[in-house]
Amino acid sequence: MRMVDIIEKKRNGGQLTEKEIQFFVEGYTKGDIPDYQASALMMAVYFQGMDPEETALLTQAMVDSGETIDLSSIKGHKVDKHSTGGVGDKISFIIGPLVASAGVPVAKMSGRGLGHTGGTIDKLEAIKGFNVEITKEEFIDNVNKNKLAVAGQTGNLAPADKKLYALRDVTATVDSIPLIAGSIMSKKLASGADSIVLDVKTGSGAFMKNLEDSEALAREMVQIGNNLGKQTVAVISDMNQPLGFEVGNANEIREAAAVLQGENISDLRELSLEIGAHMTVLAGVYSSYETAYTELEKNLDNGRAFDAFRTFVQAQGGDTEVIDNLEKLPKAPFDIEIKAEKSGYINAIDAASIGVAAMYLGAGRATKDDQIDYGVGITLRKKIGDYVKAGEPLVILHANEDNPEDSAAKINEAYSITDEQPDKLPLIYKVIK
Ligand code: URA
Repeated sequence: MRMVDIIEKKRNGGQLTEKEIQFFVEGYTKGDIPDYQASALMMAVYFQGMDPEETALLTQAMVDSGETIDLSSIKGHKVDKHSTGGVGDKISFIIGPLVASAGVPVAKMSGRGLGHTGGTIDKLEAIKGFNVEITKEEFIDNVNKNKLAVAGQTGNLAPADKKLYALRDVTATVDSIPLIAGSIMSKKLASGADSIVLDVKTGSGAFMKNLEDSEALAREMVQIGNNLGKQTVAVISDMNQPLGFEVGNANEIREAAAVLQGENISDLRELSLEIGAHMTVLAGVYSSYETAYTELEKNLDNGRAFDAFRTFVQAQGGDTEVIDNLEKLPKAPFDIEIKAEKSGYINAIDAASIGVAAMYLGAGRATKDDQIDYGVGITLRKKIGDYVKAGEPLVILHANEDNPEDSAAKINEAYSITDEQPDKLPLIYKVIK
């Protein structure tokens, strides 16, 4: 088999066979197929697409390129949750304890973030003493005992995807629906859960800017998961503005903990209950979505979800004094108000610009060796639809200096203020099963 023939076939709109896809994925992972041929194939796929069968074969080949995690020694039906990524997205910190409080085991492997803020495990490290480098045995023990553990990704999961994603990043071939779907699902399938709930974001701060593309991506991923034997549900949710009011690391943990204590931060609470309900139904704990939603609501309000969070933090070495007194989380020395220049309604908040403003403060990494500053971040004072008077704060920047000009400029760029009150945006657009 020759790589050039595979490229030509796809360039001309042909359907690749299982053997051709395996030949490419194995050869590229081993280094036998050069970057220039892989780039040409990715560009051909970008223009010609892949049908669902080809996408499932590509996903399986990427899973087979490395290790898969064996979670069979964890009792019960394991459900994983994945978000396609957004600004202020701290849903995982709410979902984990919430679903665990209903008795569903959550064994989460997560990566560090390269972006506006840290990733899941970076944010957890904002809690003094929290250890994500636990052994496989501790990880499994903790899930069996407490129903929840989070560990940094170990092992060589889907190495073909790692190589291909890096290549796509520099060859303008990231935003292809079959390639994104295969990339995300290969990592999820290698992570060993029995079922998967996907939070597919849509809007200005998401990978997929419009509902049509988000829905196509969600359908493709659900189909891959179901075809490869893992029941998969996708929730399409809004990312036209940051989720909740906090963007950063420690401040996102603080906000997630507030929701776990029953505080009604409406978008965070609603989306967590929606995703949690699907997860617990897939796990077989509740027989219907409606029952699951109501029971999980009770666990947010009666302290069970928060207790599960506390137990989880303690089991991984985190300082529970910080959990009992969230003001002890790291906090930057300066709080700087960025004020509205005119009165009116908040019409749009470009989530990506808010993310960049947080990164300028030090909340994220521009390169993988950068250090994250857990205490810096942004608190939104106004969200879409709110009225603001000229001179009132739009956001508070938590910074290490008293005049973070770059971040302030980004905030002014992010907010748009109009005379007319905009229509309310839906939080959840669709659920795809
Ligand atoms: N996230 C991934 O993991 N892969 C993609 O291709 C896009 C987003």
